[in-house]
Amino acid sequence: MKTNHGDGRTARLSRVLGVALAILTAAPGARAQDALELISPDERNVVTLGVVDGALVYALERDGRKVLLPSRLGFEFSGAPPLSEGLEITGSERHANDQVWEQPWGEVALVRDFHNELRVSVSETSDPGRQFVVVFRAFDDGIAFRYELPEQPGLGEFEIMDELTEFHLADDPKAWWIPANDPTHRYELLYRSSPASTIPEVHTPLTLETLDGPVLVIHEANLVDYAGMNLTGSWERRLSVTLPAWADGVKVRGRTPFVTPWRTIQMADRAADLMPSTLGLNLNPPNALEDVSWIEPMKYVGIWWGMHINTVTWSSGPDHGATTENTTRMIDFAAQNGFGGVLVEGWNVGWDGDWIANADLFSFTESYPDYDLPALAEYAAERGVTLIGHNETSMGVANYERQLDDAFALYQDLGIRALKTGYVGDKTAEGHAHHGQYMVRHWRRVIETAARHEIMLNVHEPIKDTGERRTYPNMMTREGARGMEYNAWGREGGNPPEHHSILYFTRLIGGPLDYTPGVFDILISSTDGSPRLPEETRLRTTLAKQLALYVVLYSPLQMAADLPENYEGQPAFQFIRDVPVDWEYSATLGGRIGDFVVVLRKERDGPDWYLAAITDEEERSFDITLSFLPEGENFVAEVYSDGEGAHWLNNPLPIAISEQPVDAGSTLTLGLAPGGGQAIRIRPAE
Ligand code: NOJ
Repeated sequence: MKTNHGDGRTARLSRVLGVALAILTAAPGARAQDALELISPDERNVVTLGVVDGALVYALERDGRKVLLPSRLGFEFSGAPPLSEGLEITGSERHANDQVWEQPWGEVALVRDFHNELRVSVSETSDPGRQFVVVFRAFDDGIAFRYELPEQPGLGEFEIMDELTEFHLADDPKAWWIPANDPTHRYELLYRSSPASTIPEVHTPLTLETLDGPVLVIHEANLVDYAGMNLTGSWERRLSVTLPAWADGVKVRGRTPFVTPWRTIQMADRAADLMPSTLGLNLNPPNALEDVSWIEPMKYVGIWWGMHINTVTWSSGPDHGATTENTTRMIDFAAQNGFGGVLVEGWNVGWDGDWIANADLFSFTESYPDYDLPALAEYAAERGVTLIGHNETSMGVANYERQLDDAFALYQDLGIRALKTGYVGDKTAEGHAHHGQYMVRHWRRVIETAARHEIMLNVHEPIKDTGERRTYPNMMTREGARGMEYNAWGREGGNPPEHHSILYFTRLIGGPLDYTPGVFDILISSTDGSPRLPEETRLRTTLAKQLALYVVLYSPLQMAADLPENYEGQPAFQFIRDVPVDWEYSATLGGRIGDFVVVLRKERDGPDWYLAAITDEEERSFDITLSFLPEGENFVAEVYSDGEGAHWLNNPLPIAISEQPVDAGSTLTLGLAPGGGQAIRIRPAE
């Protein structure tokens, strides 16, 4: 549906812009243009846009309460004046959209894209008279805007040195953040919380809890050819955009016509209502792939955890993990237990010596002599399993790009349908930032090349998720958080009990996470006596919580990370075998950031429901009424709960497994131990 209201300018000056005018016209001689207003379909979210004293500003309200005060828009260029002053609105258009689209896979099958749009044309009043368009969309679950720079005589090729976009917070909410400029951890840090005004340069999604108002998440969508957006706080509560740079300091290179990524502000009444989050998906172009039959969410196992707990090595030699023999055994284990993939790290030449420093020595086609790639690929395929290839680049991006086409063609020939990539390292050899435009371009190139070769991707040390999976559903999952491996390294005390219930409301808002759950040997006792591991090497959860993470931390490629021998004789392993990776429906039944989460999901193309809860170091219990089940039908709840006396610190292993008949009238009481969890499969009674 398209509605066009002439120049679309509303006559009324909104209350919000009224404040803007009061603030911004305080200076003598200040001038203001009429305000434009955009309202979400449910009429709760109101964006106001206007020019005040030659500057373009926007503001945001929800339920009549100020969320963002007048906030600046614009750019600074190299070799050209800033595009932020002496502006006027020259026209506007309105559109409305209400569509439902289907995901090939995901947390929910159907997504509703219901929004109102306002396109505002802006021009400089004096030379060089450059023009741009700001497009705002108001959804019920948030708002988004982006800049469009049309082709024009005064603006052809350009270099952006700074994006002047601001988010001027009306309150000083509690921000949940990870710093953006840590050279060794990238996104892999524990979240901290502090007033938004005090935050340094941080990554997005940035989750903000206001005292008695909405929970906000500032993020971006459809990052294709731009630098990733970081945010920096200020005492005035103005969060400003900071962009990581190319080696020469330029932030973004482009040529008109050009569009920026969307800047998004998701809003919910409670943290629990933030998830599942589909705002970013709605702002990405629809699926670009004609055939998606080869894209299949799956669980996988791998030759991986052993490297992290030092039972095997990536490098060649007597402890080499990626041998034909080990991989054959792993394929057998996968086939016996219904796993779709086997990840093998350390299969390719380049791991010997300092692989982080010697990025350019990696070959992505040549395997070590004790790894028979074609024979293993065939052995796996015969058993209905795919090898998951592994390409660690160590940020040797040029080396990787030189080999990309040949490598992906080889994998396709061999029937390898999934690939894990890795970007350990801070900058590229040429000095381009990990999350800057150079890497974003590379990132797109890899996704598109993988799509051409029918390869599903799982990216570690990635560019953050901005909803690419809608356009390229082969972009399955990624790391971009402090995952399981930190427990193996014991670094900084591993991942604390609260970590997962923070991730759910922060990192997971972006999209799927390859956390690699399912380590049953919580104390990593299988390596007892190894002098090579630090003392802190262990997990900080109960065993039942490891199961609950399969439901809570969504990933369409979901690993059972432990060594196969640690699953032997463990009845709890049945839950990992059963749990789906593709859902028709998902809901957060309850949760508080950093404290607990309760998640309900319904499997896609099947009758089962899954209910899971996780907690931090506090013991908790929840009563859940199963009114979501179809009336009059009988189900069985298979319950995996923390056993008697379970405690993440000194007694993490007890697990109780029971079954009970349930129906839509039943209430289940979930009891969680400190640092514990509970996972429940609800299946039709036979
Ligand atoms: C870091 C990744 O997160 C991990 O999964 C991988 O094993 C190593 N890099 C080596 O690529």
